[in-house]
Amino acid sequence: MSEVLHASTSTLGRCMCIITGASKGFGRALAHLVSQHLKLGSVLLLVARSKSLLQELKEEMHSLKEGQDLTVHCVSVDLSTKEGVKDTVDMARQHKENEIDHVLLVNNAASLGDISPFESFTDLDQVNSYLALNVSSTLVLTAGVLQAFPPISGLRWSVVNCSSTFALQALPSWVLYCSAKAAREMMFRVLAAENPSVKVLSYSPGPMDTEMQETIRRLTGVQYHLNPCRESATKLMKVLLDNDFASGAHLDFFQL
Ligand SMILES: NC(=O)c1ccc[n+]([C@@H]2O[C@H](COP(=O)([O-])OP(=O)(O)OC[C@H]3O[C@@H](n4cnc5c(N)ncnc54)[C@H](OP(=O)(O)O)[C@@H]3O)[C@@H](O)[C@H]2O)c1
Repeated sequence: MSEVLHASTSTLGRCMCIITGASKGFGRALAHLVSQHLKLGSVLLLVARSKSLLQELKEEMHSLKEGQDLTVHCVSVDLSTKEGVKDTVDMARQHKENEIDHVLLVNNAASLGDISPFESFTDLDQVNSYLALNVSSTLVLTAGVLQAFPPISGLRWSVVNCSSTFALQALPSWVLYCSAKAAREMMFRVLAAENPSVKVLSYSPGPMDTEMQETIRRLTGVQYHLNPCRESATKLMKVLLDNDFASGAHLDFFQL
């Protein structure tokens, strides 16, 4: 697949960009691409738990001379906790006075969770803990960033929800994952309906070669055909740069 996304003038603008789950997999690949399309004065927040992987990514970007005009912060937090979400919003808020013209929030962090028959989920704490990261933190983080950077005229606002085929399709024993992805999809459709100033996209990135897929293979023995993360991230980048999707839409890797 061609790596050429656009003419070199193509840009996401002077951006406050937040990518959750940037330490690995799809989020990491996307961070590399995004950094090449941000204008001077942009701020990129790389969010995940693993401080060392985030730091390594930042250094990688530096050595590849990506994002030279950016301020890059590694935000090492656990997004399933109140503090983790608050620290991320606070870090974004520190740049409130920067003259940015685009807020781009990529809600990518997620976990697979337990793959077990429905009747095994009798522990409320276990279920709540899964939903804390995969549903609640996404809502609270997006709401917090919306408060910090109110969508006003002249400010482009984009939210990406990393979705999945399983937001729409029921898969036996995947009740946690399917339910969380379906809930996120509706959450962002509500945001799109409520606030026309915010462009919302649910992107289903297709099967990719990541740690999550390694876990799926180990737990289920199923081996999907996997695409490189960069290929899927490139498709998402093109959608964001073209910016002609309908707010609230669900776009799938295989349809693009
Ligand atoms: N891989 C696929 O085939 C596939 C297919 C369809 C959809 N998706 C979706 O695409 C997105 C990316 O998937 P992926 O395969 O790249 O996943 P991955 O390799 O498992 O990476 C998940 C990312 O989320 C971060 N994360 C996990 N728990 C966190 C927590 N509590 N707090 C903060 N960050 C946390 C991880 O970083 P740390 O461990 O450092 O915290 C990592 O950066 C997910 O939303 C996934 O559901 C993936």
